[in-house]
Amino acid sequence: MKILGIETSCDETAAAIVENGNIIHSNCIYSQISKHKPFGGVVPEIASRNHVIKLPEIINSALDKSKMTYSNIDAIAVTYGPGLASSLVVGYSAAKALSLRLDIPLIGVNHHIGHLYSVFMKEELNDINRYFPMLSLMVSGGDTSIVLIKNFGDFHVVGRTIDDAAGEALDKAAAILNLGYPGGPIIQKISEKGNVNAIKFPRGLSNKNRGRWLYDYDKDLCFSFSGLKTSLLTHVKKTQTDNNNYEIKDIAASFQQAIIDSLTNRMENSLNKFNVKSFSCAGGVSLNKPLRDSLNELSKKRNIPLLLSPPALCTDNAAMIAGVAYEMLNNRYLNTPNDVSPSLRLQSWF
Ligand code: KG4
Repeated sequence: MKILGIETSCDETAAAIVENGNIIHSNCIYSQISKHKPFGGVVPEIASRNHVIKLPEIINSALDKSKMTYSNIDAIAVTYGPGLASSLVVGYSAAKALSLRLDIPLIGVNHHIGHLYSVFMKEELNDINRYFPMLSLMVSGGDTSIVLIKNFGDFHVVGRTIDDAAGEALDKAAAILNLGYPGGPIIQKISEKGNVNAIKFPRGLSNKNRGRWLYDYDKDLCFSFSGLKTSLLTHVKKTQTDNNNYEIKDIAASFQQAIIDSLTNRMENSLNKFNVKSFSCAGGVSLNKPLRDSLNELSKKRNIPLLLSPPALCTDNAAMIAGVAYEMLNNRYLNTPNDVSPSLRLQSWF
């Protein structure tokens, strides 16, 4: 079964053709980073207008690269949430129009499930059941959570950030340090020559007894990055007024390490709590090399296999959306939403 996937949830305009869940015939992405860079973050109206301009061309490229025409496509998969409403509607409207015109099914896919699925795309799909139950660390610009996956389609969020997402924290830190956008890759590059122990930044929620805990999740599986961001701001202001020469590379490396330590520590806590056969990490921040190294060490220490997405599938893409749609059809879970759902939550299929 060949599925055309469409993804426009934020600032990537993407289309892909995937056969039977993991044979990627094409995976075309137009990144709008240069359009948003001058503003230090994604501007929704600029994002949606660029989706309108670029999406037809990107869909045509996906067909051309896979040497297919619309007549070869069996279904259309589209991200319908979560994401920016004005961006989601562009991809959704195009997908709905194509499905009506071609008279083939339209499948609405949750963007987060796309990230969770991306780690399986280089695997033999008949064989993925051996990885379940699995814990997955979702780290993107908009979300940071730990998900227990009992079977693919049976998702339970067991921990999450109570404020910023990890990618958001990296993007904001880069803005504070005047390094540009998006922050994650820039901070990773600058940190290569920095000292991770130069500044003792806080690890969010590490003090078990501090404050009242009002959330439904286990505190040991949750994240907080807003205190870390404030600590960075205070540090930068203080060193500027003290006229100290501070080394950006050391600040960046120490900041990045604080995030990696929090993510790895929470992943380890969740491995202590749940008896799983594997764990994974997905989303844009999972591209981060020191984070991948740290999770690989955890995998060795605990003797539990770790699954990571290939780099091309870590950030937003449409191949993962088409892949999920195939799994949904396989599980007889037909989801044809009438509209986009910007605040869509992770829901199980069964
Ligand atoms: O998954 P994604 O493409 O978009 C969302 O769905 O949010 O993730 C984007 C996030 C951004 O915050 C970006 O700074 C971060 O991923 N990112 C990285 C790296 N590459 C992208 N963070 C750390 N290290 C990287 N190499």
